[in-house]
Amino acid sequence: MIERPNNPETNSRRAAIFAVTSGKGGVGKTSITVSVACEFARRGHRTVVIDTDLGMANAHIIAGVKPEKTLADYIAGAAELAEIIADGPAGVKFISSGSGVKDMANLDDNGRARICLAIEELSAYCDIILLDTGAGAGKGVTDFVSMADQTVLVTTSNFAAIADAYGILKVVVRDGHTKPIHAVINRVRSPEEAEQVFLKLKGCAERFLGFDLKRLGLLPEDSSVEGAVSKRTPFSVAFPGSVAARYLAKLVSGLERFVETSSPAKQAAVH
Ligand SMILES: Nc1ncnc2c1ncn2[C@@H]1O[C@H](COP(=O)(O)OP(=O)(O)OP(=O)(O)O)[C@@H](O)[C@H]1O
Ligand SMILES: [Mg+2]
Repeated sequence: MIERPNNPETNSRRAAIFAVTSGKGGVGKTSITVSVACEFARRGHRTVVIDTDLGMANAHIIAGVKPEKTLADYIAGAAELAEIIADGPAGVKFISSGSGVKDMANLDDNGRARICLAIEELSAYCDIILLDTGAGAGKGVTDFVSMADQTVLVTTSNFAAIADAYGILKVVVRDGHTKPIHAVINRVRSPEEAEQVFLKLKGCAERFLGFDLKRLGLLPEDSSVEGAVSKRTPFSVAFPGSVAARYLAKLVSGLERFVETSSPAKQAAVH
C-alpha cells in the first residue's frame, strides 16, 4: 500500500500522469497500459494503473489482480482512497473502477471530477500514474485525457481505428487540448506499415487541426500478447523475450523522458 509521506517536503513534486486512449475499442490500450506499467516498475518507478474504463474495467483481469474494493466503492463513500489500491505484478499498484457496474458507466460530471481529484491526490505519492481509458470520444474518456500530462493514442492500421483515433484527436484539440499526444501503432506486420499509418494520422492532425502529433512507436502483431491474457499476466512479464516486449521497452524509454526521478527522501517515505 502507498503510505502518506510524513515529510511535507516530499510532496514537492507530483507523478507524471499518462492517459492511454484510442477512439476505437479493442486496439490494445489495456494490454499496452499494464505492460508499460510493469516495465516502468521494473525500472524502479513507483507506478499506479488506474482503470478509467468506467463500468467496463478489465486491466486488473489482464494483470491477474483481484481488487477487493474499487473506485465504485470510493465514489459511493464506502472506501477510502488507500483501501482501493491493490497490489499487482512487478510491484505495480492497481485501482479498478469495477466491471459491469452501471452506476460507474453512467457516472456524471461530478463523479468524474471526484475521480480526477483522487488521481491528483495520489500523484503526490508515486512517480507514474497510467490511466487506461475506455474507447470513444465521450466525456468519460476526454476528461481523463484532459487531466493527463501526456497522452498515448493507440491505433491499429485498420481504417476504422485510424479514423476513430483522428476522431478523438479532433474532439480534444477542438476542446483546447495542447498537451502532447503520442501515437502508438499496434499490431503491425512491419515498421513500414506503422510509419504509413503514423504519417497519415499526423498529416491529418497537422492539416485539419494544426496539431503536432508525436511518434512514440509501434508494437508488432505478436501471439504472445494474446497468450499472456490467458495467463492473466502482462505480456512484458509473461514473455519478456518476445518481440512485443522488446518493442514495448522502446515505448517505455520514449515515455521515461517525461518522468522525473524521485528524490531519495521521497522514495524512503513511500516504500
Ligand atoms: N500487438 C498485439 N498482438 C496481438 N494481439 C494483440 C496485440 N495488442 C492487443 N492484442 C489483442 O487485442 C485484444 C484487445 O486488446 P485490449 O483489451 O488491450 O484492447 P483495448 O483497446 O483495451 O480494448 P477496449 O477498448 O475494449 O478496452 C486482446 O485480445 C489482445 O490480446
Ligand atoms: Mg481496455
